[in-house]
Amino acid sequence: MAKPAAAGVQPDVGARFGATRRRTLALCEPLTAEDMMVQSCPEASPAKWHLAHTAWFFESFVLRELLPGYRLFNPDFPWLFNSYYESFSVFPEKRLRASFSRPALREVLRYREHVDEGMERLLEGDPDPEAVKRIELGVNHEEQHQELLLTDILHAFFTNPLRPKYRERGNEGTREPGEKATENDESSDRAFVATQPFRDETAERIRRPDSSFQEYEGGLREIGHAGEGFCFDNELPRHRLWLEPFALADGLVTCEEFAEFMADGGYQRPELWLSAGWAAVQSNGWRAPLYWMHEDGDWNLFTLRGSLPLKGREAMAVSQVSFYEADAYARWAGRRLPTEFEWETAAEGRPVEGNLLDSGHLMPGPTSRNQDRSRSQYFGDCWEWTASAYLGYPGFKPLEGSLGEYNGKFMSGQMVLRGGSCVTPDAHIRASYRNFFAPETRWQFSGIRLAR
Ligand SMILES: [Fe+2]
Repeated sequence: MAKPAAAGVQPDVGARFGATRRRTLALCEPLTAEDMMVQSCPEASPAKWHLAHTAWFFESFVLRELLPGYRLFNPDFPWLFNSYYESFSVFPEKRLRASFSRPALREVLRYREHVDEGMERLLEGDPDPEAVKRIELGVNHEEQHQELLLTDILHAFFTNPLRPKYRERGNEGTREPGEKATENDESSDRAFVATQPFRDETAERIRRPDSSFQEYEGGLREIGHAGEGFCFDNELPRHRLWLEPFALADGLVTCEEFAEFMADGGYQRPELWLSAGWAAVQSNGWRAPLYWMHEDGDWNLFTLRGSLPLKGREAMAVSQVSFYEADAYARWAGRRLPTEFEWETAAEGRPVEGNLLDSGHLMPGPTSRNQDRSRSQYFGDCWEWTASAYLGYPGFKPLEGSLGEYNGKFMSGQMVLRGGSCVTPDAHIRASYRNFFAPETRWQFSGIRLAR
């Protein structure tokens, strides 16, 4: 394992590397070897594959190129654990990842140790600025896979007839291995889970009043990453853009609000849907968000803590909806989805804090509707679908070489999501961060913020 802050190294790169690698293993602690083999939908990957692929990234883009004398762990792993980098090597079809019973899990864990040893040597040897940049990219890549590992396990457990729990409680998942729960963890966890239902007695129906929207002036704005810290290539270049005046809701759409849409025939009314969205409703039989289960006359929600009743959690932000459902909900509510530029303008300058992975809750939290702007949920809870197609900014340049395939080649047919979710590592997210998924995607913690 890399030592924090070897002499001459930028102090936090080694520490960030070590902590990120340890956390990936800690997230796997509740899983059996069999759990780690499951690939329950085409979008997901088995946990074992995530463990190997994140080591592969450091081996392929850091150690092989930048550590003289680095020895491959296994000559097949460079192509076996390549995800999608066409210019790097051939790679297995994604849908076959659940067939990787070999290499065994213990072999994958040894692969991680081998890569960590190489990284330790590199970090001790005063890596040059290019190496530091690549390590930072590898850390951010692994953080993305930590989030995917959890969303993929949630789907895997949802499809298991026993509906297992990943965690009984939330906070355990983010501790270092062997670290014990504290009383503080438990009381904050209890307070979080006991989400109180809310009622707006003055509203005839559950729709956001204008007063719960914050107004922003239009004008010439700057969009994109600024400053010295890490960002992905798709957040650059920072550029100017003209915005008309707009207003964004203070919090995310709740389960109670979404249930109103369902009760009003939301999934049965084609006039509320985009054409492709209505086709997706028909072909997939959508009648509710992905993990809502109608059982014995009541709704239950499947979460990383197992199946929980919706009753008592109505104020929770609705999650696991597609872009099409977000768009249809907004139309039904007489509002619209924000553009990614409006979102970034509203989020920029806010502290990056909220219900992210480090909070340990592992599920979206409640939305306050009492104009309490202290919890406006810009960061954490759910990724927020925007009305913006995922495109390169003016002057966008992908990274050089195979790493240019990281983000740029997906700039077609996907929508941008902003803000991070309850399983996004805190250090990973920022106002300029652009996530992207196809509009029918539902297995992520993806929710809705309204605009007008
Ligand atoms: Fe990856």
